[in-house]
Amino acid sequence: MTLMSRRTFAVIPAAGTGRRFGGDTPKQYLLLNGVPLIRHTLQALLADPRIECVVVVLAPDDTAWNEGCLPSTGADRIRLIRAGGATRADSVVNGINWLKENIQVDTQDWVLVHDAARPCLAPALLTALIDGLIDDPVGGLLAIPVADTVKRADAALRVDATVDRKGLWQAQTPQMFRIGPLREALMTGDRALMTDEASAIEGLGLKPRLVQGSLSNLKVTYPEDLALAGMILAASATRSAT
Ligand code: CTP
Ligand code: MG
Repeated sequence: MTLMSRRTFAVIPAAGTGRRFGGDTPKQYLLLNGVPLIRHTLQALLADPRIECVVVVLAPDDTAWNEGCLPSTGADRIRLIRAGGATRADSVVNGINWLKENIQVDTQDWVLVHDAARPCLAPALLTALIDGLIDDPVGGLLAIPVADTVKRADAALRVDATVDRKGLWQAQTPQMFRIGPLREALMTGDRALMTDEASAIEGLGLKPRLVQGSLSNLKVTYPEDLALAGMILAASATRSAT
């Protein structure tokens, strides 16, 4: 049997409140180099023409989304749904269910799930992820090998142990899986325990493939991450202009 070419979609969970970041405005809407953070994220995902449609999952009571969040090109591929849930996995499963109900997706089509709060995804990295996984039976994720020495802390913030970092990777997004199995994994597993799509897929007994990501593809989690993201974006804009 020849491999059929599969369609590729994306879901962006953007319904979080950014508790660790703090402040009144959710971090995905803060201005980053002059435009809302989420606009950079959308622009990064739309850069690969294989992604047919990007479903952005907003909180039902979101008041911060505005026209300024839309990139100047490719916005016709964006669908906004106000269907965020209590956890990230709830928001993702609602986005996948929307795809299933509104677009004639096949269970073997691909979906890339990417955090709204990761605005610095480089086009080359996205392309490498898709190229690396498009013929994979399971799918996988961007991740980076843990570089620092890892400590396990006790309750008093003293070191209990040094953990062997060999074989340890930090998971990033996008994470790319086939729509049917990912939906199955998210619907049947304990979503409160899933911090990424790979862990859901692992729950089915499958082994996601690791694709080398980049430190630049950081998630804005704490206030200091915002300035770092700004520097990364400014540096990549300078590179592409010269
Ligand atoms: N997210 C979501 N729905 C939720 C929780 C999170 O769509 N119920 C999204 C966030 O908007 C973000 C991504 O999942 O784009 C990654 O989550 P995280 O960085 O943890 O963002 P928050 O949950 O908003 O931040 P915190 O955990 O600090 O509250
Ligand atoms: Mg969170």
